[in-house]
Amino acid sequence: MKLLHIKVSPNLTGSASRIVASHLLAKLQQRYPALTETVLDLAQQPLPHLDALTVSAFLTKPELRTEAQLKAAALSEQLVDQLLAHDTLLISSPMWNLGLPSVLKAWFDHITRAGRTFAFTAEGEKVGLVSNKQVLVVMANGTPLLGRPTEADDQFTPYMTTALRYIGITDVRFIRVDGTHHPQTRAAAVPEALAAIDFLQL
Ligand SMILES: Cc1cc2nc3c(=O)[nH]c(=O)nc-3n(C[C@H](O)[C@H](O)[C@H](O)COP(=O)(O)O)c2cc1C
Repeated sequence: MKLLHIKVSPNLTGSASRIVASHLLAKLQQRYPALTETVLDLAQQPLPHLDALTVSAFLTKPELRTEAQLKAAALSEQLVDQLLAHDTLLISSPMWNLGLPSVLKAWFDHITRAGRTFAFTAEGEKVGLVSNKQVLVVMANGTPLLGRPTEADDQFTPYMTTALRYIGITDVRFIRVDGTHHPQTRAAAVPEALAAIDFLQL
């Protein structure tokens, strides 16, 4: 297994998503002793947002790009190459303001690329080009949402599912750490997430 481990929480020590993802990684290492891990820590190496030059490079055929455009698109090309070189993604992230922290959204903006991770059919429909990947997402949120009237406020899970499907990835599983703020809910949420991992068919 070639695993790309994307870490998002800026809380490097007490992060619930990082702690639970480490447990999941340990399980994967047990199951696949030959597993190799590449870490992309977006909290420690944040990605830049797309600027005008980078977007213009994306919209220009590679062979027609200027030197400046080639340079601007280089990071995105590297991130796409990195994604394609792995068969499994482990993404650990907090929910921020109901959705993705912007560093994780920036990663999607860099890797969602026409001609590289998706294409247009003759009819103009988008079709994903990334095949044979599985994604495991550990997501932590402060206020419990699951099974409550506020559950539908979650924009993180549907965005991730849809954005990954757009590039061709449909094998996506979520491990939720649901309610990390209050000591009482956290005391249940973290062990529940760890137990959910123990039941995962990996
Ligand atoms: C900027 C910010 C926005 C947040 N937005 C939400 C939110 O919309 N819903 C929620 O339940 N928790 C929210 N939280 C709480 C985090 O999701 C929670 O603390 C989570 O455990 C953080 O992940 P970590 O423990 O892996 O660092 C937010 C926290 C921060 C710092």
